[in-house]
Amino acid sequence: MDNLNIQTIRDEFQDMRDRSVSAKQIWQTFLSRNGRISEAFNRIGELESHTRKEFGQELNALKQEIQEYVDANQETEEQTPIDLLPVAPIEVAEERGHLSLISQTLYEIQDVFERLGFSVAQGPQMETEWFNFDALNIPVDHPARDMWDTIWVEDKTEPEHQYLMRTHTSPVQIHHMHNTKPPYRVIAPGVVYRYEATDATHETVFHQVEGLMVDDVTTIATFKGVMQMFFRHLFPVDTEMRLRPSYFPFTEPSFEIDIRPPGSEEWLEIAGAGMVHKNVLENAGVDTAYQGFAFGMGVERIIMLKHGIDDLRHFHAADLRFIQQF
Ligand code: PHE
Repeated sequence: MDNLNIQTIRDEFQDMRDRSVSAKQIWQTFLSRNGRISEAFNRIGELESHTRKEFGQELNALKQEIQEYVDANQETEEQTPIDLLPVAPIEVAEERGHLSLISQTLYEIQDVFERLGFSVAQGPQMETEWFNFDALNIPVDHPARDMWDTIWVEDKTEPEHQYLMRTHTSPVQIHHMHNTKPPYRVIAPGVVYRYEATDATHETVFHQVEGLMVDDVTTIATFKGVMQMFFRHLFPVDTEMRLRPSYFPFTEPSFEIDIRPPGSEEWLEIAGAGMVHKNVLENAGVDTAYQGFAFGMGVERIIMLKHGIDDLRHFHAADLRFIQQF
């Protein structure tokens, strides 16, 4: 091992400084946790005890000298840019951000329903089977469970409890009915999860807006009226809407809502809906003298239609050419 000698360390520092070694490297060599200074402090015990104090003071002085040098030189060095990540050109970076198209649309949808007397409810994204399936009249082993591609969550500490990422916003209906008394007029916007391969029209994570209206007399006519009013606000006025018979375990009868933009040949499926099934009201503890409707619509779907977007994956691609259009 070298002799413990402050002059040696100082010479080494001066030499590096004269050779214009970077401040960063000088810091590394002398001041870092395993640097010369720490190393010397750790070896103080090897010295004769009467020389230790003086040695410590000198070592501290040297440490301070090096620190000052590093502080003074670091800044100028840092002005040289190092390209670690590709970043957007400054003109772009200085522009102000804005809400994503998804958030903008969610607020827009919320706004229309609020004018129709609806309020907004929320529920958890991770659910128990009961909320996501059973309470919605989808018992275990019922083939209807296959309508949803489920992402299961394992709880290693309590294997008997099964959790899953909600496959639709419909469980929020149950939470809401559990927690409040009828009549109901709510929407529940939120993220849902499906175990799916992604392509232009499928994503594992997407948004739905659930709706629930339950009262003494809420009929299919009420339902049609509300939906028509909603689509008229969101899309061009002469957009057509139709109800097509369908099947959901939690509604009876059930429908798909299709819309047809002005001048288009094609009908496009935009939401699932129906009159709330008696069993669902019962499961949620609501008197079955009440009646009403529920619907669940795909938000990305609506946006794609409204703005003529052809691929779902644009929403998450973080491509400014896409984002800045909205
Ligand atoms: N939850 C259904 C789905 O995700 C949609 C729906 C909601 C249907 C409410 C009827 C009533 O496909």
